[in-house]
Amino acid sequence: MQSKIESLKKDTLTALEKAKTEDEVRELEIKYLGRKGPFSDLMRGLKDLSDEEKRTVGKLANMVKKELELAVQQKYAALETAAMDEIVETEWLDVTVPGKKPQMGHRHLISKFIDDLEVIFGRMGFSVAEGPDIETEHFNFDQLNMPDDHPARDMQDTFWLKNLDKSVLRTQTSPVQIRYMEAHNPPLRIISMGKTFRKDSDATHSPMFHQCEGLMVGENISIANLKGVMTAFLQQVFEDDSIKTRFRTSYFPFVEPGLEVDCTCPICHGEGRLPDHSPCRLCKQCGWLEIGGAGMVHPKVLENVGYDPQKFTGFAFGMGLDRMVMIKYRVNHLRLLFENDLRFIEQF
Ligand code: PHE
Repeated sequence: MQSKIESLKKDTLTALEKAKTEDEVRELEIKYLGRKGPFSDLMRGLKDLSDEEKRTVGKLANMVKKELELAVQQKYAALETAAMDEIVETEWLDVTVPGKKPQMGHRHLISKFIDDLEVIFGRMGFSVAEGPDIETEHFNFDQLNMPDDHPARDMQDTFWLKNLDKSVLRTQTSPVQIRYMEAHNPPLRIISMGKTFRKDSDATHSPMFHQCEGLMVGENISIANLKGVMTAFLQQVFEDDSIKTRFRTSYFPFVEPGLEVDCTCPICHGEGRLPDHSPCRLCKQCGWLEIGGAGMVHPKVLENVGYDPQKFTGFAFGMGLDRMVMIKYRVNHLRLLFENDLRFIEQF
């Protein structure tokens, strides 16, 4: 009897040793230690033994059964640890490895420049107005004193829209002046920035470009106010207090008088030559740069929007933003601003 118990123990342990999965262990547990297994048979057979034998054999059988039950539990635990070890080995993660930085973009140079202009003009009391990129002839030309037959329309090679009657891609930001004045009463101070479109394209012109429009209307607004605002703006945008402005007479149908605004060249400071005496290429040695058009709002335009030109006067200006960006950030090709080559964009 004892030897039978011993060999049963040996068989169970060998089988357990070989088991590779929890299911196999469970099968062995049922097979050897279950109610229909050899141990149970053995226990049932005890009743046929003598009292003496019952005690020794029974004790041994109980001990071995406990031992085997423990071995089964240990096998389960061992299998579980092995499974965990495998997960740790195959799925480990080194949390100390430096992370991969996500590629973050940033705003385009022109968008940032527009923000800067809003801040500078904001400090002088100007608020921001907006208008649509697709304009009607009415706002883009008629209300600005440029009727159908006006030769000044030729100055702006226009993109007319085929399926929208009397509509154009706005050739200037000046229509925002009209839209704003029609909706508000003076006094007012606004700037408006955005895309404008003309049918030209060469080294210094792109069919889409950006303008900044300014308008101030009120009582007793004079050309001196225009000069003050332009000078303060240019000094701040180029971060140079020595910048001076000058006006030359010009013509735009919606202002009278009409002016070109120039400022001293921010590279050579109006000298035409650099400190090493080499010629300044930006201003072509003349010391001045043309920045935009301006003038006193034409009385007819004021009348068009229902203002009394006897009571109110105002000035307006329009500047090309792209060229200012190029001057400020020393960009030497207009194309670079619109090609969106990351090697360029990432420099700012
Ligand atoms: N709109 C004019 C242009 O694009 C510029 C301008 C604006 C001139 C305001 C005078 C006053 O050429």
